[in-house]
Order: sequence, then structure tokens, then C-alpha cells
Amino acid sequence: MPEFNLNESKCNSCGTCSSLCPTGSIQMNQYPHQSPDSSCISCGHCEAGCEGGALQINNPNLEPPLTNISSKISPEELGAYMRNRRSIRNYKNKLVSPDTIKEVMDIVRYAPTGMNSQPVKWVILENPSKVKELSSICIDWMKKEVENDSPLSQYVPMESLITVWNTGIDPILRGAPHVFIATASDSSATVDGIIALSHLELALPAFGLGACWAGYLKMAATGYEKVNEFLNLKDDSFIGALMVGYPESKYFRIPKRNKVDIRFLD
Ligand SMILES: Cc1cc2nc3c(=O)[nH]c(=O)nc-3n(C[C@H](O)[C@H](O)[C@H](O)COP(=O)(O)O)c2cc1C
Repeated sequence: MPEFNLNESKCNSCGTCSSLCPTGSIQMNQYPHQSPDSSCISCGHCEAGCEGGALQINNPNLEPPLTNISSKISPEELGAYMRNRRSIRNYKNKLVSPDTIKEVMDIVRYAPTGMNSQPVKWVILENPSKVKELSSICIDWMKKEVENDSPLSQYVPMESLITVWNTGIDPILRGAPHVFIATASDSSATVDGIIALSHLELALPAFGLGACWAGYLKMAATGYEKVNEFLNLKDDSFIGALMVGYPESKYFRIPKRNKVDIRFLD
């Protein structure tokens, strides 16, 4: 539970903090105060929505953002940005600097999480040779699946992936210099991890970077303990992963997609 500090001289008793609180933890008398049975989730909406800056919530774990609130983007700009996101499968032979990674991740940590629990932890492979090693572990897993004629090997084109791998091309992690893996110690955090990965995938192009979901790696992590051992996950669970790097090729058009399927209920 964070410390709730109010500067009464700045508070105009508008009650906005109380109305923004998702858990009903702020009560209004003359001034807002934390209710005795507060179930505050530290979401910070009270502090963020206080125009006069009268409120502060403090907790040693909480860190302020690097940027301020001014952000305006038109629907056209946002639409163009999001539609231009592509799965990147060809990467430049160039590493992403730790400073850029930190900058990106400072955005990603604002992804929503259930009950504001913020359970997602990241494992980031910094070294392309580690990425290749991880691909080879996935290929080993696929070989075993094929040998055992497993149901998954009939559904996933494992034999052709192994054939491609044998030609020196990596069809699993696509020669990406980095892999970002979302993990959590709480196995119920899967949705939070997937949302965080989606935020990461969307944030990267603003830095000139690109990503691709590592679906085969996820399958291997689910079926093959050696993946988790390689990543030294111990008791944490592997939620999902993205290959990350600087795109080698450019796209000149947005690919076609299915028409949206919506049913409005009145
Ligand atoms: C959950 C998930 C897993 C994926 N796994 C892989 C993968 O293992 N390898 C790959 O090349 N692409 C993978 N993709 C990328 C999809 O093929 C891609 O999103 C789709 O073809 C649409 O292309 P776009 O992302 O450029 O719009 C995955 C995408 C998702 C959402």
C-alpha cells in the first residue's frame, strides 16, 4: 500500500481523485483521505488526475516516468503508425544499445496489468550468438517431436523448419540480434505479459526497430524444459517472446487484411 500524501494548500476539494479511484479507496470530507479499508492498487490515477498537484502517492518501488504528460497524436497519425507495424524477419547486423533498450522499456512498463499488479519481468538476450543457441535448442526439441511423431509435429511444419535450419538459415529466431522474453513468477500473469509484449512490439518502430513474435520459441518453452534452463528462469514462467532488431528491408505498402467483424448490440 503506498503512502498517501495530501498538500491541503493545493487541494480545491474537487473530488476528482476520489472519482478516478477504481477501488473506492479515497473518501471525501473537506479533503480527500484514504479510507480505512482501502484496497488501493497503486494505480496512481488520483495523483495523475489532480490538476493542482495536491496529491502524491509514494512507495519505494514506484518510479516516475521520464516524460511528461503532453502527448497528442491524431487518429490519422496513430492509424498510420499502427498499420505500418510489420512482423520483421530480416535484421541488420547491428546491436541495439542498452540505452535504447532502457528507453523502450521505460515506455513498456506503462502497459496495463490486472489489478495494477505489474508482474512482468524481462529476460533480454543481448548477444546474437545466444539467440542462435536458443534457436538450436528449439530445433533439438523439434527433432524429438518429429522422432516421436507427436501430435504437434503433425500440425507445425517441424520437418521443413529442421531442413531450413540445416541449410544455415534460422527459421526460428530469424537471425535477430536480440530476443525479449516476458516472464512472471505468478503463472496467472499470462495476459499481462502478452499485453506488455504487444506494447513493446508497437513501441519499437518509433525507435527505428522492429520485432516479430517468436511463436516457435514459445511452443518449445512450453514443451521442452531445456529452454527454461537455458534462460535460467528457475520458478518464473515463460509467457512469450519477441525477436528484436533493426529491420533490414523496408515496406512500401500496407498489406491487405480481412474486413473487420463487428456485431453491434444495442
Ligand atoms: C502469437 C504469434 C506468434 C507468431 N509466431 C511467429 C513465428 O514464430 N515466426 C514468424 O516468423 N512469425 C510469427 N508471427 C508473426 C505472424 O505471422 C504475423 O503477425 C502475421 O503474418 C501478420 O503479419 P504482420 O504482423 O506483419 O501484420 C507470430 C504472430 C503472433 C501474433
